[in-house]
Amino acid sequence: MFAAKAFVLSLLVVYANAKCDISPRFWCTSRAIAEQCGVLQACSDWWEVQSQGTASPVAISLYFESLCPGCREFITQMLYPTWKTFKATGIMKADMTPYGNANEEQLPSGMWNFTCQHGPEECTGNLIENCLLKYTGYEFDTYFPIIYCMENSQDPIAAAEKCITDAGQDWATINKCAKNDEGNGLMHKSGMKTDALEPKHKYVPWILVNGMHTEELQQKAQTDLPKLLCEMYGGEKPQECQMFMHPHPTAKKQKLRNHQ
Ligand SMILES: *[C@@H]1O[C@H](CO)[C@@H](O)[C@H](O)[C@H]1NC(C)=O
Repeated sequence: MFAAKAFVLSLLVVYANAKCDISPRFWCTSRAIAEQCGVLQACSDWWEVQSQGTASPVAISLYFESLCPGCREFITQMLYPTWKTFKATGIMKADMTPYGNANEEQLPSGMWNFTCQHGPEECTGNLIENCLLKYTGYEFDTYFPIIYCMENSQDPIAAAEKCITDAGQDWATINKCAKNDEGNGLMHKSGMKTDALEPKHKYVPWILVNGMHTEELQQKAQTDLPKLLCEMYGGEKPQECQMFMHPHPTAKKQKLRNHQ
């Protein structure tokens, strides 16, 4: 009885192999082959993803502080032009955490006393940016051009009111938040998030790509973010990637410079 069962089973296995004598990498190349190899459902899902271009965007997370020169350089020279070029393609999403190398200490009142790397002015900038994030619903596409406007100005804190107002946001609300316990609490949250990083951040700007930090990813993001995005994006590459994946050196430089 057992032997008979094993015999039937082995026949089935041979039969299945004979029907699908094709390397797995070709299984999804046609409906007929997918059917023959019993992977039609899996291939259908894959085709759907391919045709809709619904691969996940590459996620860039930036941990920074308002007055650090390297942060300002990355925001204005790399992240902003990259965002402008790719925002319509859906291959990138991003978020920012303004805190950086600050420290905090809880006061008897329950509020936090922050010490910022570039002095109290930088804390003011971080507070404004934390409040801006909240009052733009943490929508990167809304708050990022405003943070760019600040960081691209000679004095980001002095520029805040104009940058925020020109973008149609309410300066009075954001300024009030930044000066009160609301902003204090928001910056504390950013501090907790920053201090919980794994691995711990060693400098700013500190960049995560799809939630990961490695020296290699950091290096690639800082030197050629468009290339990194285009290489890492799992879906069909948008046309914008063509020049960045096989860049003509001068063409690429011009493209980035044009957007500043
Ligand atoms: C906040 O921290 C700074 C730096 O450590 C300190 O000089 C200052 O007195 C503290 N402020 C309060 C209200 O404790």
